[in-house]
Amino acid sequence: MSKRSTVVNAPARAVGEPGAAAVARPGWTVTASFPSRRMRRLRRSPAIRRLVAETRLSVDDLVAPLFVREDASDPVPVGTLPGVVQHTVRSAVEEASRLQSLGVPAVLLFGVPKHKDAVGSGAWDPDGVVQVALDSMRQRLGDSLVLMADLCLDEYTDHGHCGLLDGSGSVRNDATLDRYAQVALAQANAGADVVAPSGMMDGQVGHLRAALEEAGQHDVAILAYSAKYASALYGPFRDAANVRIAGGGDRRSYQQDPANATEALEEVRLDLAEGADMIMVKPALAYLDVLSAVRAAVDVPVAAYHVSGEYAMVKAAGERGWIDADAVMAEHLIGMKRAGADMICTYAAGDVAEMLNG
Ligand code: PBG
Repeated sequence: MSKRSTVVNAPARAVGEPGAAAVARPGWTVTASFPSRRMRRLRRSPAIRRLVAETRLSVDDLVAPLFVREDASDPVPVGTLPGVVQHTVRSAVEEASRLQSLGVPAVLLFGVPKHKDAVGSGAWDPDGVVQVALDSMRQRLGDSLVLMADLCLDEYTDHGHCGLLDGSGSVRNDATLDRYAQVALAQANAGADVVAPSGMMDGQVGHLRAALEEAGQHDVAILAYSAKYASALYGPFRDAANVRIAGGGDRRSYQQDPANATEALEEVRLDLAEGADMIMVKPALAYLDVLSAVRAAVDVPVAAYHVSGEYAMVKAAGERGWIDADAVMAEHLIGMKRAGADMICTYAAGDVAEMLNG
């Protein structure tokens, strides 16, 4: 009789099944031990490690965020996000085309408008910078690249909040929803395949779905930033998007408390019930438990947002020679895949695509 390891009571769940790597399997008894069982056998060569890898990072997983700035005549580097620029419409289209030829399936657009006002009207202006960029990308690239648009008001409001304010400076939920619907229609009319509401207003997904259906935009999908935390890791993004919250305020009255994970599942359930097509968890690394729980709970695609602060920390330490930034970036991204992400929004998308393409 063979002395090889035997596994009894193995449940039917396949190793490749979504979320399988992240859940414990009760009832497994492994009978073999050293020396018949040597884990290092399957680690001996690059080829065998490749053969047994449980998770892979692919160009197909990547979504590249792009900032498009209305008053720029040349791309403007973002000091706190090395390698990231505020694009002109023209350079954004060039970059989208480059990403498409690298095999990156999607971009996620953010606008940096020339003028801001109290209600963020630039967000739904048909000639607003994101709408112009969407239209140009669609004309240049057809359906070869998925065009996603972040849907929020904070880049467009003079107070920097994600919604309209009442007299005391609180963000008004329901009044904001109508503005979001206007933004969704403007983005859809300009050619967005996916709108990605990131404002964390209650009821936003259902409100957008209804507005899109009513306008005949049945095919525009919603990627819901369902579990979006009030994180200090968004700092460099706010430089890139020229966002300052009035009076040194924060978003804790609408974004989630980092202490809570169960609450994220309720957010996800509500967004799915309201018609979300895909779900996002954001940020990624400090919330891998949330990502893993969401992956196990839902049957729709799950995205992780590898946010600006996560990217910037790796770049900064790499510049100092303290870490190998490319290797750490790759390790972080595979960690997100292992936790259950089907796709990752990352500022490293272009570099990683080049690396993966060899
Ligand atoms: C809001 C929005 C933010 C990010 C994406 N969408 C900022 C915020 O909530 O303050 C952050 C992304 C990042 O840090 O990379 N429109």
